[in-house]
Amino acid sequence: MKNVLILGGGGREHAIAEKLRKSDKVGKIFCLPGNAGISEIAECKDISPMDFDAVYDFIEGCDFKATPVDMVVVASDDPLAKGMVDFLTEKGIRAFGPTKKAAELEWSKSYAKDFMYRHGIPTAKSASFDTYKEALAYVERQEYPCVIKADGLALGKGVIICNDFDEAKKALSDIMLDKYFGESGSRVVVEEFMKGKEVSVLAFTDGKTIVPMVSAQDHKKIYDGDEGPNTGGMGAFSPSAAYTDEVRADFEKNVMYPTLRGLIEDGIEYKGVIYFGLMITDSGVKVVEYNSRFGDPETQVVLPRLDGDLYEIFDAVIDGRLADVPVKWYDNCAVCVIMASEGYPYAYEKGFDITIDNPKNVTLYHAGTRYFGDRLVTNGGRVIGVTATADTIEEARRIAYVGVARVHFKGEYFRTDIGLNL
Ligand SMILES: Nc1ncnc2c1ncn2[C@@H]1O[C@H](COP(=O)(O)OP(=O)(O)OP(=O)(O)O)[C@@H](O)[C@H]1O
Ligand SMILES: [Mg+2]
Repeated sequence: MKNVLILGGGGREHAIAEKLRKSDKVGKIFCLPGNAGISEIAECKDISPMDFDAVYDFIEGCDFKATPVDMVVVASDDPLAKGMVDFLTEKGIRAFGPTKKAAELEWSKSYAKDFMYRHGIPTAKSASFDTYKEALAYVERQEYPCVIKADGLALGKGVIICNDFDEAKKALSDIMLDKYFGESGSRVVVEEFMKGKEVSVLAFTDGKTIVPMVSAQDHKKIYDGDEGPNTGGMGAFSPSAAYTDEVRADFEKNVMYPTLRGLIEDGIEYKGVIYFGLMITDSGVKVVEYNSRFGDPETQVVLPRLDGDLYEIFDAVIDGRLADVPVKWYDNCAVCVIMASEGYPYAYEKGFDITIDNPKNVTLYHAGTRYFGDRLVTNGGRVIGVTATADTIEEARRIAYVGVARVHFKGEYFRTDIGLNL
C-alpha cells in the first residue's frame, strides 16, 4: 500500500482524495492544508503548499516505516509555478505534476501564445507588451471587443474583456500601472475576442503519451444566466454537449497532439495534467488557455466519471508508462453545484455553522470548510460543491439540487441554472 500526500485544500483536492481512496493500492492519504471534508478521509495539517520547507519537514516527519509519503500530488497552480515538483524531485520524492518550466504554459500567457504560434496550434491573434505606453498605442488600433490579460497567475481574475478603447485603457492602467495583480501584470497580452462555446478538456500526459479525459463545461459568472463578475467557478457539468465527435477529432488532431509534439520539440518533458480551455468557433477549435493542473470545479465532475484507478494513472505518469495503463470512463453525466458564501467573489464572512441533513445520492466536495471544535463551519468563498452523477445531465442536475436543499449555512448562495446548457 502506498501513502499519498495531496497539496491543496479545495473541492478539487477533495475530489482527487476521494478517487485515490478508492484505489486498493492507496493506504493513507495526507493533505496540506486540506479542509473539513478532506479531513474525514485524510490526515490534514495547516501547512501552506507554498511553504516548501514546511512541506518537506512534514514529509520527513512522517513515520517512515509505518507511513512514508510515497507520492505527492501537487494540485494547484501557485506551487507548480514556484517549482514544487522540481523541489521534491531533487529531494528524491515522487511528485505528480509538471516542473516549473513545463508549467510555464499556464504561468505565462505570453509564453503560451508564443508556444502556440511556434507549433501551429489554433488560438486567438495576440500581442504582448512590457510597457503601458506600447500597449496603449496598440489597443488604440484594435477592433472591439478585445481581451486584455495579465501575463501571470491572477486567481482567474486577470482577464478583462473590453468593449471599447476607454475600457481597454482602464484595464491596462489597472493591470500595468496600479498593479492590481502585482508582478503578474508587468506584462500584458492583448487578444482578439473569439466567439463560440467554451469547453474544457483535461488530459493526462507523461511527456510521451497524452490521454484526454471526458469534456466539461464550467459556469464562471456569479449570477444565473452568466451575469455578474467572474468567480473561481460556480458549478460545472460533464460531458459538454458542444463537444461532439467532430469537435473532439478537431481538438485531438489540431490541438492536443500538436501540443505534446511541441513540448517534445522544445525539449520539455511535461508530466501531469494539461488543461485545455477551448473555444469552439465557426472556424474550428481554438485554445483560450492552458492550465498546468486539474481545474476547479471541473475535476469534481470529471473524476467521478473515471472508471479506473487514479493512483495507477498518477504512478504511470511519473514513471513515463502511461501508454500501458487503460484510462476508461463511465458512460454517464455529472453536475456539480457550488454553494458559496454571501458576498463572494468579493468580501464575505466566515465561521457560519453548516448543517447537512443526510443528502441522498450526492457527493459533497468541501472547499472552504473547517472544523471549529466539533462544529463544521464555513471558511471560504466557495464552501461546498454538491455533485451528482446520473444517466443524463437533466437527472444529475435534479439530484444535485435536491442535495443542495439539504445543506445550509447563513448567507448560502448558489446559482440555480448549473447544467442548463447556456
Ligand atoms: N480571446 C478570448 N476571446 C473570448 N473570450 C476570452 C478570450 N480569452 C479569454 N476569454 C474569456 O475569459 C476567461 C478567462 O480567460 P483565461 O482562461 O485566459 O484566464 P485565466 O485567468 O487563466 O482562467 P483560469 O482561472 O480558468 O485559469 C475565459 O474562460 C473566457 O471566457
Ligand atoms: Mg489559466
